[in-house]
Amino acid sequence: MCLAETDDSSKILIRGGTVVNADRQFHADVYIEDGIIKLVAPDLKVPDGVRVVDATGTYVMPGGIDPHTHLAMPFMGQETCDDFFSGQAAALAGGTTMHIDFALPIGGDLLKGFESYRRKAESSCMDYGFHMAVTTWNDKVAQDMETLVKEHGINSFKFFMAYKGSLMVTDEQLLQGFKTCKSLGAVPQVHAENGDAVAEGQSRIYDLGITGPEGHALSRPSLLEGEATARAIRLAKFVNTPLYVVHVMSIDALEEIARARQAGQRVIGEPVASGLVLDDSKLWDPDFRVAAQYVMSPPIRPAGHNAALQAALSSGFLQLVGTDHCPFNSSQKAAGRGDFRKIPNGVNGIEERMHIVWDAMVNSGKISPSDYVRITSTACAQIFNIYPRKGAVLPGSDADLIILNPNKTTTISAKAHHSNIDTNIYEGWQIKGNIEVTISQGRIVWENERLNVARGAGRYVKMAPFGQLFDGIVKADIAYLSSLKAPVYRK
Ligand code: URP
Ligand code: ZN
Ligand code: ZN
Repeated sequence: MCLAETDDSSKILIRGGTVVNADRQFHADVYIEDGIIKLVAPDLKVPDGVRVVDATGTYVMPGGIDPHTHLAMPFMGQETCDDFFSGQAAALAGGTTMHIDFALPIGGDLLKGFESYRRKAESSCMDYGFHMAVTTWNDKVAQDMETLVKEHGINSFKFFMAYKGSLMVTDEQLLQGFKTCKSLGAVPQVHAENGDAVAEGQSRIYDLGITGPEGHALSRPSLLEGEATARAIRLAKFVNTPLYVVHVMSIDALEEIARARQAGQRVIGEPVASGLVLDDSKLWDPDFRVAAQYVMSPPIRPAGHNAALQAALSSGFLQLVGTDHCPFNSSQKAAGRGDFRKIPNGVNGIEERMHIVWDAMVNSGKISPSDYVRITSTACAQIFNIYPRKGAVLPGSDADLIILNPNKTTTISAKAHHSNIDTNIYEGWQIKGNIEVTISQGRIVWENERLNVARGAGRYVKMAPFGQLFDGIVKADIAYLSSLKAPVYRK
């Protein structure tokens, strides 16, 4: 096939690579024009003038989509140290071309919170969307949820079952939230830990004189994650709504999700990069600065949970990988020196996820390159109803692409990374498999280890409600109602 002659850098031919989609991989060239993939076919002929990228020996894949980030988020008296520009630049350097961030309400007001996040995101350099958190319940919250879905492109809401006294909601509020989500075709998401028991555990551990970062892990064991996950799943079943469990960190939680899925319930489980590959040993590091880096919630678990999470991901019990990128510098983490309850919770990951998952799961033979595309990109696009615009190398899809060289090795370090954070939980990790090129909106933004990003170039991606998770929900409701054999008409 011949392409029209041009001399325009918005026209790029990626030649000679192996294209990987979630369903298959095949040899093909990819031609991009004006931010859109135009052609995917072998042996495309191109005249002089089109930018040609040689991808021989490499994989050409959809850019990563990170379903779980916290940029410029006010939390525990601090603000995460990556704003939308620095966090997204880091993401692009690591092969992620879109993320979905969590917008927090302001004083319980969803619309105010959403508008504030839209403003923060004006510095964006890649595409992004928002989930909206719901941290209280009243009629205005329900109305605002409707407005956000119908007018502002929100199709998911996160409910915190932990962080008592700040973000946590009660079961009653959770139920109201689930019902409202269902009626709007929006996906309810839960941070699943029993917040009352966590508060009790924190006092208990602190009163024992355990004040350092290890106290964080000891105060909120995995059974509290399992309990809350089970509760959320049962409440979602009661309402008959799909459910998305964010940052699944433990065997306890994943077993609840697996059981529910085996029983036919629509539950999505999202592990995060840190939980997949780390264990909690660093929390016992004698250097507070090192240990505090690893404080996140739910906590990184003892060895064994990580391997189980990887296995659940490769067997399909868990569906996609996020990062929960929530970076705080050492000076911010120092707020909790002497009291682990005050260490701002969160770890880095937006820049590392694609490499970490490739190394841990593809290099070890646990999953195929197609599975990799599915869990890092396609599944997210499908769940949040932006597929195939995102998450696929197909004609008509956005030209958000990466080129991964499986034979090149790279080393992760705080000195070399692009995030604002001054530490890296993967410091010194050697990764086989390097993302050499990132293309965002049809432009090469990462090449030869250099970023070429433009502040303000990022676009807000609206996500429509009633995605595929909702197909059949009404039929199931009708089937349930017609099975009731009630009311009984008595004389
Ligand atoms: O430690 C974490 N996960 N920080 C971010 C807030 C959240 O719960 O996702
Ligand atoms: Zn959370
Ligand atoms: Zn989070």
